[in-house]
Amino acid sequence: MATVPKQPQQQVVTTSEAQIAVHWREEEYYYPSSKFIGQANLNDPDILNRFSEDKFPECFREYADMLSWDKYWHTTLDTSDPPFWKWFVGGKLNASYNCVDRHQAKYKNKAALIFVPEPENEAPIAVTYRDLYVRVNEFAALLRDHCGLKTGDRVTIHLPMIPELPISMLACARLGVIHSVVFGGFSGEACGLRAADSSSHVLITIDGYYRNGKLLDHKAAADVALETAAKEGHKIDKVLVWRRHQGQNASASPFVQHRDFWVDEILPNYSGEIVPPVSMDAEAPLFLMYTSGSTGKPKGCQHRTGGYLAYVTGTSKYIQDIHPEDVYWCMADIGWITGHSYIVYGPLSLAATSVIYEGVPTYPDAGRVWRIAERLNVNIFHTSPTAIRMLRKAGHDEPTKYNYHFKHMTTVGEPIEPEVWRWYYETVGKREAVIVDTWWQTENGGFLCSTKPALDPMKPGSAGPGMPGIFPEILDEMGEVVPAGSGKAGNICIRNPWPGIMQTIWGDRERFVNQYYRKYCKNPNSKDWRDWPYFAADGAVLAVDGYFRILGRVDDVINVAGHRLGTKEIESACLTVDEVAEAAVVPVVDEIKGRVPEVYVSLKPGFQPSQEVVDKVNRAVETIIGKIARPKHIHIVPDMPKTRSGKLMRRILASISNRGATGDITTLANPDVVEKVRELVQGKEPVAVGEVAEDIKQFGKED
Ligand code: WT7
Repeated sequence: MATVPKQPQQQVVTTSEAQIAVHWREEEYYYPSSKFIGQANLNDPDILNRFSEDKFPECFREYADMLSWDKYWHTTLDTSDPPFWKWFVGGKLNASYNCVDRHQAKYKNKAALIFVPEPENEAPIAVTYRDLYVRVNEFAALLRDHCGLKTGDRVTIHLPMIPELPISMLACARLGVIHSVVFGGFSGEACGLRAADSSSHVLITIDGYYRNGKLLDHKAAADVALETAAKEGHKIDKVLVWRRHQGQNASASPFVQHRDFWVDEILPNYSGEIVPPVSMDAEAPLFLMYTSGSTGKPKGCQHRTGGYLAYVTGTSKYIQDIHPEDVYWCMADIGWITGHSYIVYGPLSLAATSVIYEGVPTYPDAGRVWRIAERLNVNIFHTSPTAIRMLRKAGHDEPTKYNYHFKHMTTVGEPIEPEVWRWYYETVGKREAVIVDTWWQTENGGFLCSTKPALDPMKPGSAGPGMPGIFPEILDEMGEVVPAGSGKAGNICIRNPWPGIMQTIWGDRERFVNQYYRKYCKNPNSKDWRDWPYFAADGAVLAVDGYFRILGRVDDVINVAGHRLGTKEIESACLTVDEVAEAAVVPVVDEIKGRVPEVYVSLKPGFQPSQEVVDKVNRAVETIIGKIARPKHIHIVPDMPKTRSGKLMRRILASISNRGATGDITTLANPDVVEKVRELVQGKEPVAVGEVAEDIKQFGKED
């Protein structure tokens, strides 16, 4: 074990902020239709018995048995090195074999993927399981022979939503090469930093792709990524470039000889090659997925092969209700964990047809999503509250104009407002589809809380109970359990390990322990998993019916449109602007995206506030992180509110941005600055102070 965890700190205050009662109106239940129940994969209430706590950890065999193993495991859960749990130890398997090869006998002519290009005049393209097999094998041969990649190496993939993305991932998995997919919308710099952190010597990219009607130059980002990695002291040797349109080049970036290669020029050398899937240890890493934490540096969540694949397969089957005959469309980007687990690995492991849409949901108009659903006969739909809010705003009645029928829908990534939920249910789902609100995180591999679609009633705004075999609880700052129905908020934790949990943070075991286990560890010397609750860094309330309502992050992470951004990352980007002396980033409520970052900067002596500085800060955030992090506002302030010891009070700035009460400011070193900043942001007349969301109240309380 890396660090000795400390006991929860004794607090002087009697009521912590996390304990403040939250008064929700209890929402009424909605029930799945008998038609849905009749066909559901999971409609046997005995599941609760099969996954009861006394059956843990062996209950998870049920998921692992859905996979094809080269060698069966001898130990389901090994707890000898807490909290580095090991799953299905001794077992061997290959993820690409499980998602591709094993479906050849029965499903080779069935679509594995259907690619929908953004331009509506480009027809959808189906990739059958046979095609997928051929393409994964050929590309694996290229990775092995042209790039010299071998088991255990890392490869960074910076691709948009095109079939070549899952093909690249599965080709890596076939060789036991660890893939690290960086969201296509992230900047070249963000990509380069991640490539350096994982020491990837190969970067996979594409010349360009469509976004909102424009063909974007994407290869240019690879050039920046290589420069950035070089600055970090890391050399990327080869860049493999897929091509969006045969015979064309969407990028202005020059090709560097012996470094950059068009995939379609070298792939014919591997035509028809078959690469035997490497039989991997269940515990061998399958991929890294970088996510933001409370410090500046993104962390590489390292996911294992056996446990991860078992968990996403089991949950795709039971919670997503995927059958091989379903057409399943998850609108997330594969560059996030949702896409890894619930576009690629889970659905393909179950021989589903998984839809990949290249572009923006509202392009060219508010009907696009529903036209795709109608044309492809999609019957399972999966998206985020941000997308739902956006689609509702763009075309409230649009879904009614199209003849599609969903049996099942998912919402994931952020809390969903009950009224938005009801629009999803009534208008998008046409009252026919069951909804699951799945709560989980990049670190978790798969769902942690959700209703079981055929067995549990739905409650708008609540994720539902813990998943089968997952035992969540709410703890207060002292480590005491907050009882169900108390109406009090606290930190949601998971009492037990599960197969989908990440193995560690790539290259940083200590940070892994500190981040997730230190806060509530009961005994650092214990090898009993019961002493090691997982701390998720989300606030939640538990109702009497056992349903969890997730309130949002309790750390310095802002959940923008269902994606995590670290405030420290954005602040460091702002500080690269010469004129900027100090920067503070806070979350502000946004009608569509849930939360968005707002930036406060103060300038170095001798500089005056100007639009030019604002533009520079904007550009810095876009180039260092990506457009997704673009601030809602940038405020240039004369000074930052600070404590006497010089600590920047982000909490106060967050209240100003969100029109909340600033609380006691008398202990500040510079209380006068608060009113100055308030006036700057809200105007001369004091605005009425309103009720502020729980996560915003919690924000920066550690400062
Ligand atoms: C954070 C994790 C893995 C899903 C995609 C986001 C928030 C996630 C829900 C939900 C309320 C949710 C949490 C969590 N979140 N799902 N159903 N209801 N909040 O993955 O980028 O790792 O973000 O998203 O705050 O901690 P991520």
